[in-house]
Amino acid sequence: MRYIPTLERSQTDVSKADGEFANAVIEGLSRVQKELPCRYFYDARGSLLFEEITRLPEYYPTRTEAQILSVAASDLVADFSDGDLFVEFGSGSSLKTEILLDRVETKIVYVPIDVSETALADAAVRLAMRYPSLDVRPLVANFSEMKGLPRDLSGRRAVGFFPGSTIGNLAPVEAEGLLAGFKRILGKDGRLIIGVDLKKDERTLTRAYDDEAGVTAAFNLNLLSRINRELGGTFDLRSFHHRAIYNSDAGRIEMHVVSDRKQDVRVCGQVFHFSDGESIHTENSYKYTIVEFSDLAVRAGWRPERVWTDTDNRFSVHHLV
Ligand code: AVJ
Repeated sequence: MRYIPTLERSQTDVSKADGEFANAVIEGLSRVQKELPCRYFYDARGSLLFEEITRLPEYYPTRTEAQILSVAASDLVADFSDGDLFVEFGSGSSLKTEILLDRVETKIVYVPIDVSETALADAAVRLAMRYPSLDVRPLVANFSEMKGLPRDLSGRRAVGFFPGSTIGNLAPVEAEGLLAGFKRILGKDGRLIIGVDLKKDERTLTRAYDDEAGVTAAFNLNLLSRINRELGGTFDLRSFHHRAIYNSDAGRIEMHVVSDRKQDVRVCGQVFHFSDGESIHTENSYKYTIVEFSDLAVRAGWRPERVWTDTDNRFSVHHLV
């Protein structure tokens, strides 16, 4: 028999999600520049497509971050003490976490936080088997809405982990707000290990979001399939295409789905008109220089202690205290 760690439900209610999707879609498609929140990419098929993206030759962030973490791991976990909390925000399958956990020599408590209960349960079982002395306390929650950790975990020193440049989905002001929120959650002696994608030549950036095999295009268009399936939408997937551009003024990659013709689409009984070439803005992925991100962290109340990059300066891992 195997011990399956129990799932703790947080203060945040996660099951009100259905109406939220419909509201967000209707609101986003009603704007002058149509837009959809990128968090809805990750249904079952979207999550599989994203995993495929992370293995693409053009998509450098995942493997570069993994290399950096392997090099930095011993230093990053050097000050972990017995009883410390290791809190991962949006842990998903917790794959990168193992790079750090492999080097931990003390008895810490791992707190993966994710909205997907199934992803959490799978990861928790795998980690509990792989690291028998690790105390795993999965938390079903939306980390951006959390006010604090459950009471039974408070009072411990906490180290946050936010890899993958997920922070890049937020505009800089919002990113600053999220980092300040993490600081409140992690407490006075809190620390944060965060992965941030770096500014670089435009061609490398755009290729990473518009790959030869068309996986990112499928990932982007899957959002329309999801709307068709879950909200009774009538998007004709053959008459929209994927576009990724680098907006150098804003310092971000933008993904759009672009209408190939003038057409009407129904969602939840409402009609949305598209002109030829009109787009829905589906994702921003902000890129930073090391100095830009360090300054942002300082504005959020953190002190950058150390930063690691790869030899090509593609990606960065920051240790904030
Ligand atoms: C998961 C938000 C880090 O912005 O690079 C990958 C998502 N979108 N390809 C990113 C994504 C298109 C990814 N993040």
